[in-house]
Amino acid sequence: MCLHYKLYFIVVFFVVYSEAQGPIVTIDDGQILGSTQKSVGNGGTFYAFKGIPYAKPPVRNLRFQAPYKNDPWQGVLDATKEKDKCVQTAGILGLTIAGSEDCLHLNVYTTNVTGNNPVMVWIFGGGFSIGGSEYSSYAPDFLMDRNIVFVSLNYRLGAFGFLSTGDLNCPGNWGLKDQLLALKWVKDNIEAFGGDPEKITIAGQSAGSASVSYILQNPQSKGLYRSAIMQSGSSLCLWSLTRTAREIAFAIGARLGIFTTDSGELIRKLRKVDYQRLKRAENDVYYVAIAVDNIFNGIPMGPVVEPEHEGAFFTQKSHEMLRTGQFNKVPVLMGLNSNEAKSFLGLFIDVLKPLFTRYDINIARLAPYDLTRNSTKRILAGTEIKHHYFGEDPIVTRPSANIIKFISHEQFNRPIRETVHQMSKYVDVYYYEFGYRGSLGEFESDFAGVGHYEEIFYQFANKANANDEDKSARTIFLELWSNFIKYVNPTPKSFEGATWIPNSPKNQNKDVVYLSINTTLAMRQNPDQEDWEFYQKIYDKYGDPPFSTY
Ligand SMILES: *[C@@H]1O[C@H](CO)[C@@H](O)[C@H](O)[C@H]1NC(C)=O
Ligand SMILES: *[C@@H]1O[C@H](CO)[C@@H](O)[C@H](O)[C@H]1NC(C)=O
Ligand SMILES: *[C@@H]1O[C@H](CO)[C@@H](O)[C@H](O)[C@H]1NC(C)=O
Repeated sequence: MCLHYKLYFIVVFFVVYSEAQGPIVTIDDGQILGSTQKSVGNGGTFYAFKGIPYAKPPVRNLRFQAPYKNDPWQGVLDATKEKDKCVQTAGILGLTIAGSEDCLHLNVYTTNVTGNNPVMVWIFGGGFSIGGSEYSSYAPDFLMDRNIVFVSLNYRLGAFGFLSTGDLNCPGNWGLKDQLLALKWVKDNIEAFGGDPEKITIAGQSAGSASVSYILQNPQSKGLYRSAIMQSGSSLCLWSLTRTAREIAFAIGARLGIFTTDSGELIRKLRKVDYQRLKRAENDVYYVAIAVDNIFNGIPMGPVVEPEHEGAFFTQKSHEMLRTGQFNKVPVLMGLNSNEAKSFLGLFIDVLKPLFTRYDINIARLAPYDLTRNSTKRILAGTEIKHHYFGEDPIVTRPSANIIKFISHEQFNRPIRETVHQMSKYVDVYYYEFGYRGSLGEFESDFAGVGHYEEIFYQFANKANANDEDKSARTIFLELWSNFIKYVNPTPKSFEGATWIPNSPKNQNKDVVYLSINTTLAMRQNPDQEDWEFYQKIYDKYGDPPFSTY
């Protein structure tokens, strides 16, 4: 093994001319050449292996199918360069199409290819429609400083990742199935990069976090990780489930001139459509769905409850799965930022505010989607919710800050606290709120708090202009996260004066506790308690369980 390693290194040294030549690693599929980088954190050396395939390119007949393991390759795979993102729109107006269908690869970063270090697998967010695993988006330098092996993976997005006809011709969840295959790859291969296969943490943000949540509820993933991190997303968030997938699939077909009511025919024909045309048709349908429908119905293209069959990713209602303990029992670290919706609405609220008139006109739309299908109850619940958050006057006349707060609570705070509440009956859940409002946030506006995605700028090394306070927030964040990855406990000893206490099966009747992460750390209790109690009453009075989202 050692001799092999040296031999290949010498061979490749003469074959490939690359400035920052890295080591060669051998896995069952073949040899992989990495590159050497210097951490922008402590200046230490680490190795990057970019664009390693974990599946066959999902093209032609493999489009809208679960991923297949790739074939081994001959010779040395050049993993020194970034490969394509999955197909998505790009540009300010979303008019250009970036990426390619041949995108099922992952990246491994490590400080020691012969080490035995804990591993973090990162699933990026972007509403199941955009994003990628590339270094320029998720630079793991600060994790390298702490000797963690970092894996970031690609999964199919938009129609390519989530088109579903709601039947066995195209059951959907292709992107989640990609993630599962990538996790198997990590378990099987990470030792070759100096990772400990017994110490894998899966982690994600936003749609990536909701993905982690779904992975935990998938029995086939049991044993592939020992702990999980969920940042600003859960399967109980309204936006993490698509309910209109079949209509959307046929609408995309119609947009492309495929007029049929036969889902088999639809899928056969959609497999032949050029990927750019397909993406454009999806966009048209997506934006119409959002404009005509409303944001309280979930997203038009994302995870779906599949019909029962072998290979289904999930077939049951998520809230019911969590409530009844049907998930893989590993410790969880999860939470959110202090004002999530600020990032989506902060800059545009004046333009978007008039749209809220539709909720004054149709007040039932304010009731949580899954609460009940009974329209009388929806009106009663919607009326109480309107009163609780906005008083008697029309919503559009209320301060923008109220609307942003409501959207934060509706889309993040309540479903995430409910996730903590249900999961902590069975496993330890370390719950946090990130409230540090530093200089790196990208969506700055007049509104208080920290918006969606802002913690990413402290977690990863994508921004250079951190001031001293930002750097200190970054250190706090990274120490907590990397302790959890190393020891399954974010504060094995007291840190910055705080010990992070989990919500645990042992202290069920107590208050919900969370760590407030800011310039200082403090344990606090019962976030948004007044709103929480209000919604408990709404669910008691009007709820018709079981629920998917909450
Ligand atoms: C890499 O890990 C191995 C095994 O733990 C250890 O012996 C070696 O010293 C490490 N190398 C470096 C550069 O830290
Ligand atoms: C809907 O809820 C109302 C109020 O609780 C109830 O009177 C009515 O019977 C329900 N309707 C249906 C169809 O269940
Ligand atoms: C974070 O700290 C700042 C400065 O002390 C404070 O203004 C802010 O309210 C805190 N955020 C949270 C969510 O507690």
